[in-house]
Amino acid sequence: MTQKKIILTGDRPTGQLHLGHYVGSLSARVHLQNLHRQFVMIADAQALTDHADDPQKVRENILQVALDYLAVGIDPHKTTIFIQSLVPALPEMTQYFLNLVTWNRLKHNPTVKLEIQQKGYGEEVPAGFMVYPISQAADITAFKANLVPVGDDQIPMIEQTIEIVRKFNRIYKTDVLVEPEILTSAIARLPGLDGRAKMSKSLGNAIFFADDADSVSKKVKGMYTDPGHLRVEDPGKVEGNPVFTYLDAFGTDKTNIEELKDHYQRGGLGDSSVKKYLLEVLQAFLEPIRERRKELAKDPKQIMEMLHRGTEVAIAAADKTLHDVRKSMGINYFG
Ligand code: TRP
Repeated sequence: MTQKKIILTGDRPTGQLHLGHYVGSLSARVHLQNLHRQFVMIADAQALTDHADDPQKVRENILQVALDYLAVGIDPHKTTIFIQSLVPALPEMTQYFLNLVTWNRLKHNPTVKLEIQQKGYGEEVPAGFMVYPISQAADITAFKANLVPVGDDQIPMIEQTIEIVRKFNRIYKTDVLVEPEILTSAIARLPGLDGRAKMSKSLGNAIFFADDADSVSKKVKGMYTDPGHLRVEDPGKVEGNPVFTYLDAFGTDKTNIEELKDHYQRGGLGDSSVKKYLLEVLQAFLEPIRERRKELAKDPKQIMEMLHRGTEVAIAAADKTLHDVRKSMGINYFG
């Protein structure tokens, strides 16, 4: 048997989760929890790095994200689900790691650069935001994670983490920190309903697990397809056509999907027929998730208790690593 790995991954609680999250990471978590030791973090402290003025939003979305996790099948008996800001070892490890990374290195993180641009921060970027990749390195290493299933926008964070691990282990002549490996999914990114590269809440092009059947239907009907496919008899493009990407991601009848693709490319298959089939596929996938979510949402107290229990487990695991970290740095003054 292959050795059990430790998995750490998480999400910022700034909104509900959607199909893009499922493709990027949630589906892998549902599968991996049966094979490995998995921790899933609700990264509220990281969410605050760009939402300092709206902690209420972060607070409310902790419950929403937890509901989404459970509804898609992350099982709290198999996976430790916890709240980041309640684990004191994380900011402490972050503090030590901050000294191992240069300001210049931080400025060149491509994901952070893009986010600074999107948020219009310019030079007025919050210091906490600038250093969040370092706190993410603490998240990952505190649990000695060797596998991090995330979307491809997180690759720079894993690279930063590996650099920190190597530097820490070299300087302090230790092997307490573990180098993580990223696990990205086969479909790197689910495009938005509007055909843009990424499905995202802020772009308004997402299907959420909490969406009711009607709004899913409206969203699918309004989807972007091949703009060159004007008449039914025209040949259409499958590449870059989100309707087919969604079918690849969520459809189970691969033979039928291949036939539809051929037909569409030959001409003679209308967008509305493909969308009708996609809607069936998505409703079949979403219906049980939506129902489960509705049931679970009736008892928020039970969800918070589950998070509380998970957080206790996470605190103990991270404290152990912090102890080893302090020891290898020689700052374990009282033994
Ligand atoms: N940065 C991740 C996101 O944008 C959230 C996150 C925080 C995370 N800490 C993590 C992901 C550690 C993986 C591992 O959603």
